[in-house]
Amino acid sequence: MSKNYTPKDIHRPLNDITASEMTESEFLDTLERDIMPLQEFLMYYKCAIMEVETKFKVLNEQFSLNGESNPIEFIQSRIKSFGSLFRKVQSKGIPRDLGSISENIHDIAGVRVVCSFVQNIYHLADCFLAQDDITLIERKDYIANPKENGYRSLHLIIEVPIFLEDEKKPVKVEVQLRTIAMDFWASLEHKLRYKKQLSPELLSMLSGEMKTCADESAEWDRRMQNIKNIIEKEE
Ligand code: GTP
Ligand code: MG
Repeated sequence: MSKNYTPKDIHRPLNDITASEMTESEFLDTLERDIMPLQEFLMYYKCAIMEVETKFKVLNEQFSLNGESNPIEFIQSRIKSFGSLFRKVQSKGIPRDLGSISENIHDIAGVRVVCSFVQNIYHLADCFLAQDDITLIERKDYIANPKENGYRSLHLIIEVPIFLEDEKKPVKVEVQLRTIAMDFWASLEHKLRYKKQLSPELLSMLSGEMKTCADESAEWDRRMQNIKNIIEKEE
């Protein structure tokens, strides 16, 4: 990339645009220079999300035909907000150009796949990773090894190619696979994490309560899976 763009730079064109002495061609040049690289950058991630979503939807269709009634409950995708991207760039000391940002930040594109049962998660992940255009960069199994606070999910950082007019571009995506119970827990824990005005005592009490809920919901996931396995064996 020939120029360093920072997330803050996206405000610059607006200042330039409002400069009354700007001609139309200067205005178009400014757009080309400042906005296009950012739009292109976001487009790569948007396309990578579409590729990954499609792969999971295809697997869901096939499993449904094979008698696994819709292993995926829902898929949620997002592109990291500029605010959150900026905070991560700051905190990790990443050089502020789009090349370094895409090299070092692996969760600009995120796809969350939510299933009812834990075994579906591993089966889906295995089938997804076995596809010959998917490159695994990192796998973190917080289901087998939950975080101290009780957080559980299977995380995959992968690279998927997107096919553009005249190039094939590998793009990183963070895939989180979880059960409904894990997702329910993580949403509430996320709320708790960002409530800054709680007293330390209350925070500690609620964190303890969340840990208990995490353990109990993990137990539920195990029991529900077990019941499903027994039912299927009887069929
Ligand atoms: P960072 O994304 O820089 O934090 O890298 P990391 O190596 O710590 O990634 P990790 O795989 O631990 O977490 C990535 C994402 O998983 C986060 O952005 C959250 O979406 C989710 N996550 C991880 N831990 C927690 C947690 O304790 N609670 C909740 N609610 N979500 C979590
Ligand atoms: Mg983290």
